Amino acid sequence: MKILVTGGTGYIGSHTTVELQQQGYDVIIVDALFNSRVEALDAIASITGKKPEFEQFDLADRQKVDDFFRRHGDIKGVIHFAAHKAVGESVEQPLKYYRNNLDSLMNILESMNKYGVENLVFSSSCTVYGEPDPENLPISEKAPIKKAECPYGNTKQIAEEILQDSIMAYKGLNAIALRYFNPVGAHESAKLGELPFGVPANLMPYVTQTAYGIRPFLRVFGDDYDTPDGTPIRDYIHIMDLAKAHVKAVERMLQGKMKARYEVFNVGTGTGYSVLDIIKSFERSNGVKLKYEIVGRRAGDIVKIWADPTYTNKELGWKAERTLDDMTRSAWEWEKAYREGKTCFKIDENN
Ligand code: NAD
Ligand code: WQD
Repeated sequence: MKILVTGGTGYIGSHTTVELQQQGYDVIIVDALFNSRVEALDAIASITGKKPEFEQFDLADRQKVDDFFRRHGDIKGVIHFAAHKAVGESVEQPLKYYRNNLDSLMNILESMNKYGVENLVFSSSCTVYGEPDPENLPISEKAPIKKAECPYGNTKQIAEEILQDSIMAYKGLNAIALRYFNPVGAHESAKLGELPFGVPANLMPYVTQTAYGIRPFLRVFGDDYDTPDGTPIRDYIHIMDLAKAHVKAVERMLQGKMKARYEVFNVGTGTGYSVLDIIKSFERSNGVKLKYEIVGRRAGDIVKIWADPTYTNKELGWKAERTLDDMTRSAWEWEKAYREGKTCFKIDENN
């Protein structure tokens, strides 16, 4: 069974490729390497023993997408990860985000419809819920979609609408949107992990780079929120648990177990942790002290959100298994392995 993984050299795509290969799927990756490195392919091979097929091109290029699907008649399903994802950049360059994230999706759907590829798993995000009303926490798939806080978030909302409309119109198409909460951590081998370009915008890579001495200290963005310790709460999920959720979604589609031709699942643990919880877990699980300072709030931050994963647990037959300490431990093991040159990735001082 061959699966197309778009964005497969990126953070979530590369870990999912490992899991797919280990479950016996053949994977072909398409990635333009906008935000990832080609060494990810060797890293995947070093874990699974098999280097996935790979083509490098921009999925926003309609002709190239059509040509790709024409040449690969054996693809049984698509997991579409490829997208730009930096919230701040999307505010400064909204058209870059709308163009890339939406054109890529529409090109893929068009070609799937044309060449008879039926099954699509789409990377959506808890960002579609915005700031949940307190009575809606933990948040279920039935909660209202709020106006997006940024153009990036809006691309996920519009993408979900494009999927619904396409599924209605094109009878051969099925889609599952997975709404991820906050993926963190790395593969247990420490051969693969999160490798952001430049200064990390997200918490966990900032934590590990600070612990390694790349950054002088972590800035904790506000401790005066309405939460038990004053710092914001998120549902952090181990990257390998998230990878497994994709395999379950692919299986569900290929085995004809979908209840409707378009389905949505939350992919979170169901437990919320604060920024200070993350720091404590990192220090506890790794025996490392982290330098941090409380600074002002970051504009646009949600105060608290965590998933109600009941429907996903029951329907998808998937449940997060790893603990917060597993997440912070694997993230640190990966950071050290990368910095010490023990991985397939060349060390980049700016990275
Ligand atoms: P990532 O940046 O590590 O991976 C995305 C990959 O897509 C990159 O390798 C990039 O080069 C590629 N790409 C982007 N546009 C492309 C295009 N037009 N053509 C070909 N390749 C292209 O990001 P990630 O964290 O692995 O995220 C994967 C998906 O999950 C994205 O859709 C993202 O929006 C979504 N998501 C991520 C998070 C998160 O916190 N990481 C949370 C929720 C949803
Ligand atoms: C987590 C917490 C920060 C960095 C973003 C996107 C969202 C989704 C996931 C894709 C917050 C705090 C962070 C730092 C800090 N992505 N923090 N110091 O904001 O939940 O979500 O990634 O869909 O769309 O917005 O994740 O990792 O940036 O922040 O104190 O240096 O860590 O304030 O409370 P976030 P994050």
